[in-house]
Amino acid sequence: MTEPKVIGILGAGRVGTAIARRALAAGYEVRVASSRPASEISLVLQFTAPGAIASDAADVIAESDIVVLALPLSKYRSLDAKALAGKIVIDTMNYWAPTDGTLPEFEGAPSSSEVVADHLEGARLVRSFNHMGYHQIDGEARPKGDPDRRAMALAGDDADARAAVARFIDRIGFDPVDVGGLAHARGFAIGTPVFGAGMRRDELQAALGARLAA
Ligand SMILES: NC(=O)c1ccc[n+]([C@@H]2O[C@H](COP(=O)([O-])OP(=O)(O)OC[C@H]3O[C@@H](n4cnc5c(N)ncnc54)[C@H](OP(=O)(O)O)[C@@H]3O)[C@@H](O)[C@H]2O)c1
Repeated sequence: MTEPKVIGILGAGRVGTAIARRALAAGYEVRVASSRPASEISLVLQFTAPGAIASDAADVIAESDIVVLALPLSKYRSLDAKALAGKIVIDTMNYWAPTDGTLPEFEGAPSSSEVVADHLEGARLVRSFNHMGYHQIDGEARPKGDPDRRAMALAGDDADARAAVARFIDRIGFDPVDVGGLAHARGFAIGTPVFGAGMRRDELQAALGARLAA
């Protein structure tokens, strides 16, 4: 597989622009879309993620090697499953009823990403970035080998997609911790000890390994 060069981000808010800034700093080309026309977000992006290209969602999906979902989960049904089929897709979205409103399909769901994966049938979905706050993505990225480097978990059913996302995570400043199939994303869902904890690799591996063994 050729190395991903273009990162597309759906969602120009806190998480979307934090990932955009990290990806730009790592040398990726970055395209960003929201639900508005590109012309409406291009000026804001000049301040929030200088260098990122504002596009419409269809163009972001078509032109990117990895597509990051950084929109409110309540909007997931607006995602074009046909266009995303075959694409490497990172799902950062969490279900939080106070902001998303009550969404029956996520109430009691083991992992919101499994519901999203059902909608995006054919996409090479990888769950990641969801357990880290946007301020951590911005503030806690470190070069490889830095003793203070934080770890990022990832899970997905496509091993090649996981490998590509792991390299992306590594390049933008975090140690990837690959836990295997998408069902294992339950281990770093909202409400777990891992969520928001900012663990280093050995700590995250231990926390997720213990959960997998249980
Ligand atoms: N905040 C965090 O620290 C954090 C951490 C991990 C994961 N997350 C997850 O990341 C996602 C985004 O959170 P956030 O805090 O970045 O939210 P946010 O600041 O409110 O940004 C959401 C962005 O999504 C855009 N958007 C809305 N509907 C869209 C659509 N249909 N297609 C494309 N873009 C759309 C919004 O712009 P328009 O309304 O103008 O389109 C806005 O730019 C959420 O699912 C959240 O659970 C958040």
